[in-house]
Amino acid sequence: MRFKHLMGRRGIIPNLPLKPNYLKPSGICLGVTKGVPSQKVCIDRHAFLRHALIVGTTGSGKTTTASIIASQLAKYGYVIVLDWNGEYPSILKNYELYTPSKEEGIPIIGEDADEITEMFEEVLSLTPPQTFVLERSLGGVVPYDIIDLMNRVNTSEGESRWFTESKLALVRKLRSIAKTAYRGFFSRNAFYFLLGRMKASRGKPLVVDLSILRDVRVRRLAVLLMLKFIEYVKIRNMVNDDIYAVVEEAHNTYRVNEGLASRLHAEVRKLGIGLIVITQSPSCIGNGVLANTNVKILHALKSKDDLEAVLRTLGGVYSDLSRAVTRLSVGEALIDAPQFITAVETSIGKF
Ligand SMILES: Nc1ncnc2c1ncn2[C@@H]1O[C@H](COP(=O)(O)OP(=O)(O)O)[C@@H](O)[C@H]1O
Ligand SMILES: [Mg+2]
Repeated sequence: MRFKHLMGRRGIIPNLPLKPNYLKPSGICLGVTKGVPSQKVCIDRHAFLRHALIVGTTGSGKTTTASIIASQLAKYGYVIVLDWNGEYPSILKNYELYTPSKEEGIPIIGEDADEITEMFEEVLSLTPPQTFVLERSLGGVVPYDIIDLMNRVNTSEGESRWFTESKLALVRKLRSIAKTAYRGFFSRNAFYFLLGRMKASRGKPLVVDLSILRDVRVRRLAVLLMLKFIEYVKIRNMVNDDIYAVVEEAHNTYRVNEGLASRLHAEVRKLGIGLIVITQSPSCIGNGVLANTNVKILHALKSKDDLEAVLRTLGGVYSDLSRAVTRLSVGEALIDAPQFITAVETSIGKF
């Protein structure tokens, strides 16, 4: 038996390895243990405010697990699903849909223009001179919308030839994304619209269907700007309830803007924001982010690099879990949460 220490003694002792102060399983219930008799596996909802990580190969069950968590977390706060592939509407029973388009836009918002510059720099792979031009054009002010940003770049002046050349190249890059993200889409006007939709969604997850954004760069920007939006409304106390954000296929965004991702993970926990990060490639996500997740849900993983990246953050005592993680079936996961002494092998969605 691979997990003797997790199984309890023939059902006499409960087979959930709970720490003494967590006697009653309650909160967010994910499934049952694989031992006999099986026990409900539930996680204190507050643990999600210190972030969660869901990993596993494609098809291992990550999105299904996240949807089970999202629908239960909606009882406790706002839930925003950044639905990279547009899958949640077919999985969730109860949800509100936000489809990024002209009206249902994604706000360009933030406390400072540096972070906006960094986002564009990384998503559009700007060269150092192009980044310089962008910085200079914004002059420390967050742009009003994507057209405002382009206008400011267009009218910025520099004497040297390299400035003019970099400016033209930058405008070309911006124009290429502005085609999809037309005026009103990446706009500050979208801010109150989105805030209103989020408030009205209370009790159900608000699913932001990013799959309609064909240009992957635009999709990445949308994810980063949504995270900025969530941080902004909490910093300004514009909503009282906690906000949980489900970040699907996080390697797409966290890899390109690791600085923002690790800063958010470190800082937003104080604000009442819980990030649920989902990825098939944990090795593409910074160690700072991985280590800054309190709940870890490991579906089957095959790649050695990915296994190492995750198991490293679990610490030495878990080193023997690596074989277990490779053998999990679809819908099965090892769950590590603060209330458990050791990770619990769980059949997700069975109660
Ligand atoms: N806990 C589960 N119980 C039963 N079927 C599951 C479970 N998790 C996933 N599946 C099935 O496996 C397939 C892939 O699941 P999905 O959650 O989309 O995986 P991933 O997000 O890791 O690619 C889906 O058809 C889904 O219905
Ligand atoms: Mg998925």
